[in-house]
Amino acid sequence: MDKLVIQGGVALRGEVEAGTAKNSVLPILAATLLTREPCRIRDAPALRDVATMLRILEALGVRCERHADGTIETRVEDEGSVEAPYELVKTMRASVCVLGPLLARRRRARVSFPGGCVFGPRPIDLHLKGLRALGVDLDIEAGYIVARAERLRGAEMYLGGSFGPTVTGTANVLMASVLAEGVTRIEMAACEPEVQDLANFLNAMGADVRGIGTPILEIHGVGELHGAEYRPVPDRIEVGTFLAAAAITGGGVKVTRCRPDHLGAVVERLTALGCRVESGDDWISCARRGRLEAGDITTLPYPGFPTDLQAQFMAVVSLADGVSVVTEKVYPERFMHVAELGRMRARIRKEHHMAIVLGTDYLSGAPVLASDLRASAALVLAGLVAEGETQVRRVYHIDRGYERIETKLQALGARIERVRDEDGL
Ligand code: EPU
Repeated sequence: MDKLVIQGGVALRGEVEAGTAKNSVLPILAATLLTREPCRIRDAPALRDVATMLRILEALGVRCERHADGTIETRVEDEGSVEAPYELVKTMRASVCVLGPLLARRRRARVSFPGGCVFGPRPIDLHLKGLRALGVDLDIEAGYIVARAERLRGAEMYLGGSFGPTVTGTANVLMASVLAEGVTRIEMAACEPEVQDLANFLNAMGADVRGIGTPILEIHGVGELHGAEYRPVPDRIEVGTFLAAAAITGGGVKVTRCRPDHLGAVVERLTALGCRVESGDDWISCARRGRLEAGDITTLPYPGFPTDLQAQFMAVVSLADGVSVVTEKVYPERFMHVAELGRMRARIRKEHHMAIVLGTDYLSGAPVLASDLRASAALVLAGLVAEGETQVRRVYHIDRGYERIETKLQALGARIERVRDEDGL
């Protein structure tokens, strides 16, 4: 196993290119199950989660080829298998996204029930509710969702839960409904750019999805879909992480090949914290001089502040002048990073779904354990500015969602290295 070793104290400066959004690519790859024609997904990131999705597709009879330029070509060769096995699903919750397309094309699915995760329960009741509304018969057997549908019929449904809409739930129902008879109307659909991207890809395959980017999606079922070539959107969470790196180190970073229009809430917060943010059509930059100001962070479904940047921004405000309140309204238990940031001298108290962060003058480098993808990113950010050396262990978490993070940070001047962790942690 590897660890990242960081010598803190360098203000990051320079330009970095954003990668393609993992959370777009995963459901889009699942959507290629909806046609027997070849599909080409361009600029797919070389991430562990993407490799896992390709293994699942292969288990489902899809031939997947990955080219050196990042293009992934898929072609369904055998529609006989309908099982997404536990060994793969347990490593990546997004695997559940094959449920919708399997039902749409093969009328049957056996998908391992995704368990909880390190930041709390992650139910899929809304996925199942939406699929049932389309006429799917569902049961749980031996840890698997066993689903069957003689035919899928368009339906009206409300897909909001206690914490708002569901991203992969909307994706699943969307993929199940594109080939259903009649019209499906999803109220309280997730509006995230990655859901919009999936809908645009489905339309490129010949689907008829309307209301894209709004909380009401209307899907007019079509007879069949064809192959398509598509370049998914840039990763707004990776971009937000680099902007946070500029903010926390007091440097200046420009991220190119990105979509600043997906980052409204993030730009608003960075500005409130005292950073200067500029942007053009496909680039955005963040610079900070002087002390960070305190500011509250409240996560919400898109276009609110993303939960996937909560940990990184908690690291940033841990060095701000004053008290900041971080409120998690999407995943109330997503605070695994609090204790590890505390080992680095951050002063944070967790209260239910909130964390109260008392800004401190400096962070102190320490060995820390990455607990999940975004928490690891927060620890790396803290390490970049901490005094002395930080070792972030269990970096396989970060490799699930950030491509070559250490190489990109090195290009901005960071002193960060990936080394083998002899303790095997
Ligand atoms: N929820 C329910 N019932 C459901 C589904 C969700 O109550 O059936 C609740 C969840 O417990 C949570 C809220 O609704 O409180 C939102 O969950 P959502 O379903 O939107 O999350 P997800 O689709 O499982 C995706 C991303 C996550 C990201 C969330 C929120 C992918 C592959 N994953 O998860 O990304 O945090 O949306 O934006 O798109 C990450 O990349 O690090 C990551 C965890």
